[in-house]
Amino acid sequence: MTKFKLGLIVGSNRRQSINRQLAQALGRLAADRFEAGIVRIDDLPMYNQDLEAALPESVTRFKAELEAADAILFVTPEHSRSIPAVLKNAIDWGTRPWGKNSWTGKTAAVTGTSQGAVATAVAQQHLRAVLGDIGMVVMGGEAYIGFKPGLVDERYAVTDDSVRKFLQAFIDQLAALTGKLSAKIVPRAAA
Ligand SMILES: Cc1cc2nc3c(=O)[nH]c(=O)nc-3n(C[C@H](O)[C@H](O)[C@H](O)COP(=O)(O)O)c2cc1C
Repeated sequence: MTKFKLGLIVGSNRRQSINRQLAQALGRLAADRFEAGIVRIDDLPMYNQDLEAALPESVTRFKAELEAADAILFVTPEHSRSIPAVLKNAIDWGTRPWGKNSWTGKTAAVTGTSQGAVATAVAQQHLRAVLGDIGMVVMGGEAYIGFKPGLVDERYAVTDDSVRKFLQAFIDQLAALTGKLSAKIVPRAAA
């Protein structure tokens, strides 16, 4: 069976990011349905329209990886009750130059983890609004993952059974939606 391509985007540029750990764990849970890999965003320059005249190599690479993906899974922390700047910067680069939006029509899913009580819920809501505006098809449902030390082990396995089952169902839902959206469009009958 051909696997879908899944781009994992982590909304943190921190070396020990708990969201990167969660993204790696999700990539592992997705392995039988998706070819999953992290799409790097921490090497993108701060968006500046002046740079569009000669796109930096990191931007060209980033946009090519987006365009090759069937679906994008965002795994993000919450910064000041919103989207981290590093992630918003990547989103903006993906939409540019004008007319070359690399996100349009792709399936998106959103999750994230923090140690806080609301576990990234506000950031996720903000992110969903932005993703809809840039033309992505955003999967419904909610996945706010409260982080505890040891939740993801050194081999990126989720150690808590109920969290693992929840995340597996989330990935299965994403695979089903990606399959539906990737189905061939039936041409209109001639008038
Ligand atoms: C600038 C900044 C703002 C933050 N704001 C929030 C917040 O609004 N809500 C929250 O739950 N955690 C907040 N945190 C804590 C993060 O959830 C925590 O640092 C988490 O580990 C970040 O995820 P990461 O390890 O993937 O980078 C904030 C952290 C930083 C550095």
